Amino acid sequence: ADAPLLDPFGRAITYLRVSVTDRCDFRCVYCMSEDMAFLPKRDLLTLEELDRICSTFVNRGVRKLRITGGEPLVRRDIMTLFRSLARHLDSGALDELTVTTNGSQLARHAAELAACGVRRVNVSLDTLDPDKFRRITRWGELSKVMAGIDAAQKAGLKVKINAVALKGVNEDEIEPMMRWAHGRDMDLTLIEVMPLGEIEVQRVDQFLPLSMVRARLAASYALEDLAERTGGPARYVRVKETGGKLGFITPMTHNFCESCNRVRLTCTGQLFMCLGQEDAADLRTPVRTSESNQALEQAIVDAIARKPKGHDFIIDRRHSRPAVGRHMSMTGG
Ligand code: GTP
Ligand code: 5AD
Ligand code: SF4
Repeated sequence: ADAPLLDPFGRAITYLRVSVTDRCDFRCVYCMSEDMAFLPKRDLLTLEELDRICSTFVNRGVRKLRITGGEPLVRRDIMTLFRSLARHLDSGALDELTVTTNGSQLARHAAELAACGVRRVNVSLDTLDPDKFRRITRWGELSKVMAGIDAAQKAGLKVKINAVALKGVNEDEIEPMMRWAHGRDMDLTLIEVMPLGEIEVQRVDQFLPLSMVRARLAASYALEDLAERTGGPARYVRVKETGGKLGFITPMTHNFCESCNRVRLTCTGQLFMCLGQEDAADLRTPVRTSESNQALEQAIVDAIARKPKGHDFIIDRRHSRPAVGRHMSMTGG
């Protein structure tokens, strides 16, 4: 492989997150507005173009690919992309090919994901109560997600549950969710809500600092800090009583940008150097206008050279507009 990608702060870019669609079959209230306008399909990169960009990154030292969305498993023929990217696992160029999903279509795809070499999947789930689930997702069926989780475990996939901590919505469920997840041999990671895109409510009314959640849990559980990282932003603790791992993703209360190793590709071929900044580079033009990968590689190198130091998200009463205009479903978290 060619020289690895280094940003201006000396951080090596070894992790690419790829949002393969901005669409989703749910409309989580903290993620999207009810009347989201989705991109016209003609603006999307083809699966071949996505593959070519991913492969160029792998050739430049990316060791981990995460397929996200929107909901990645609603993209037509998405398994074709997984099957094709699996060659980089076989060759040893890639350590991990993985996916973040809402789980609604996982029952159908779990076995094939495992066959492609996917070993872990992250399932987004914010409540175990079917009615609350319907309210948060606006119409989702919890039983389908549960069936997806069952299928994933049956297929031998390691499942991590991601829950966004929401004030007054699921804060009372964090402990039961932890017990449930750990009882099924799954890690649980909690995420602080971020100010991305206009939604119907004020983020400040949703925001629950995880320092508070941790302090509450620490009253009843022994939490042992773990040094190990999975290559993502989560800090983990071992919960002595359950034996399971609990992760905290705290962009708002504890910035983890100094160890950032990732960039994000959208389904239209924009490369975002940071989840919390507006700057993006166009990779669709070089991928469409040139057969050789040279222009594409140059565009990637130029983009990484302007990766910012970090986000500057703020959630408070004075900031009623989100820090970043696009929704999470554009860049996939
Ligand atoms: P693991 O491989 O399991 O560690 O995955 P991960 O935590 O990198 O990925 P996952 O898809 O589980 O990410 C969970 C959430 O973390 C995302 O949806 C985002 O909300 C948040 N996140 C991930 N990377 C960043 C980042 O660079 N900046 C910020 N602000 N949030 C991030
Ligand atoms: N802040 C934090 N997390 C969010 N997600 C979606 N929107 C937001 C937001 N504004 C989460 C989803 C999923 C992951 C991809 O991002 O719940 O777990
Ligand atoms: Fe869909 Fe995930 Fe956004 Fe919910 S959080 S609407 S499941 S993309």
